[in-house]
Amino acid sequence: MLCKKILASEAVPGMIAADDVYTFNNILIIGKNTCLTDRIITRLKFYSVFEISVFIEDEVKVNDINLQSTESKLHAAQIRKTPEFRKFVTSFKDNVNDFKTTIDDVVLNDTDFNLDQLLDHTNKVLSESRNGLHVLNMLHSTRKFDDLTYVHSLNVSLICNVFGGWLKLPDEDIRVLTTCGLLHDIGKIKVPAKIIKKPSKLTDVEFLAVKMHTIKGYNILKNKTLDQRIINSALMHHERCDGSGYPNALIGDQIDDFAKIVAIADVYDAMTSARVYRGPLCPFEVIELFEAEGYQKYDPHYLLTFLDGIVQTYMHNDVRLSTGQKGKIVMLNKNALTKPIIQIGKSFIDLSKHPDISIMEVI
Ligand SMILES: [Fe+2]
Repeated sequence: MLCKKILASEAVPGMIAADDVYTFNNILIIGKNTCLTDRIITRLKFYSVFEISVFIEDEVKVNDINLQSTESKLHAAQIRKTPEFRKFVTSFKDNVNDFKTTIDDVVLNDTDFNLDQLLDHTNKVLSESRNGLHVLNMLHSTRKFDDLTYVHSLNVSLICNVFGGWLKLPDEDIRVLTTCGLLHDIGKIKVPAKIIKKPSKLTDVEFLAVKMHTIKGYNILKNKTLDQRIINSALMHHERCDGSGYPNALIGDQIDDFAKIVAIADVYDAMTSARVYRGPLCPFEVIELFEAEGYQKYDPHYLLTFLDGIVQTYMHNDVRLSTGQKGKIVMLNKNALTKPIIQIGKSFIDLSKHPDISIMEVI
């Protein structure tokens, strides 16, 4: 059977893996012949897998899946129709374009940063939104944008801004953290676009070039008048607390705190942007994955605060359970974030007491 290499961001449910997929430090994530599901695609993003091999024949099946009209798709379509959302998208597009011009100027002409001007882009998008939680909801519905470095950077800065609030950081630290998000991937501008967007298998040298964006980013920023945490975030946002990251395989305390926060925002954006084929992702699926596999890789304090913040976003939302029943989230469970109490009609289900039932969709 024929197979082809695709970017992990192009994977859709129904495709069949044509090869085993490993993390870069050789841990098996999925085996050959595995049928990709939402959950597996999210895992690929979680482990920063860049590309995979799939069997080509299965594209027919994939199209069938794309035609399925899920409730989450309708929900996203409804959000997209609102004047508020249209305003958000216009603001987002304008600001991505302005941000690109500013960043290109810094990288190509070696000009200095005007941080006020730079943060203006994030602040303008934020000002179009009611509150931080609302920003995340809007972001979930704008997944039609290409996964370009500039869009991703603006997304991560918005997530960092909201995250900083959840961590109760002082305003000046939130400002620095938001800038960390904006500039964390700046080194990618120096990696040839043909490598970043290459749809076929990367050679070892090309893969190394992608990883080098961390060091390139550091070199662009190191002599600028910037808070050291911003420079460190560009260098260290792919480091992981258990030493499994790059470029220097640092562990725990060796990693800058702000780089640890950016790492979570970066992976969260990557996981949510994997869903170009459907509506808003089920956040509980992402939280479940972070809870199951994230505490060695990410700083537990930051991760817990982040997951807690995300779950709070969905309090009082309607959800569909794996049983097919629809209900409302009425109480959160601090010890089991993906297992809140659900009201269905006049009765209540405590999901923590029903390990077999899970939230399938926020509707
Ligand atoms: Fe990166």
